[in-house]
Amino acid sequence: MELKKVMDRVYWLSDKRRTLVTLSAYSEKSVYGEKIFNLGGKIYREWVPYRSKFSAAFYKGLNGVDIKDAYKVLYLGASSGTTVSHVSDIVGTNGQVFAVEIAEEMAVNLILLAEERNNIFPIVDDARKAENYVNNVPKCDLLYQDVAQRDQTDIFIKNSDLFLKTGKIGMFAIKTRSIDVSTDPREVVRNEVRKLRAKFDVLREINLYPYQKDHSLLILRKK
Ligand SMILES: C[S@@+](CC[C@H](N)C(=O)[O-])C[C@H]1O[C@@H](n2cnc3c(N)ncnc32)[C@H](O)[C@@H]1O
Repeated sequence: MELKKVMDRVYWLSDKRRTLVTLSAYSEKSVYGEKIFNLGGKIYREWVPYRSKFSAAFYKGLNGVDIKDAYKVLYLGASSGTTVSHVSDIVGTNGQVFAVEIAEEMAVNLILLAEERNNIFPIVDDARKAENYVNNVPKCDLLYQDVAQRDQTDIFIKNSDLFLKTGKIGMFAIKTRSIDVSTDPREVVRNEVRKLRAKFDVLREINLYPYQKDHSLLILRKK
């Protein structure tokens, strides 16, 4: 098996096929049923593209983003922590992942995960009401959002205004069908991008098909 570095703590593992993995910053335990590889005494966790839009973006050609050791990340729509666990690997034990999730039943697993990974800080709240957590979240180096709501662009802009450092990256998973089921998904993305251009440079738009249906991931830089 051969490891090829994509970015800090993220690798392509080549065997019969290519598998994206993160170097685990914590235990050797599987978080959501992903495969674990022990290579030369280091633990790598498969980052499954069907379970994580961030991973799907790498399978669709993303070759790195500005996220690394000791970064502070605000993550909106954390769910039970699948993707959060890989972001936690990337920023490492000196980093911090502030993980916002509105649904208490999802947050149960997120809170358990945070007990094992002390760089994850769960916040059970509505990302629309960012003022509720303004005192608990510092200025961040990366904003990642995956909430699948009609007003997802407004949520993203509000949180970026409050928490994202100027010049830093925002990653925004747009669920094209959450906004308008009757409009062509490409048109939906174009309309949202138009709203974002005032505050962000749009670096890339990655359609996540076939790993994730009706989703694009926007990579933005805060002006
Ligand atoms: C598609 S799932 C996220 C999956 C997760 N990002 C991952 O890759 O592991 C969307 C999540 O956003 C949460 N959500 C929806 N609206 C929200 C809001 N206004 N504030 C915070 N979380 C929200 C949902 O409860 C759900 O758990």
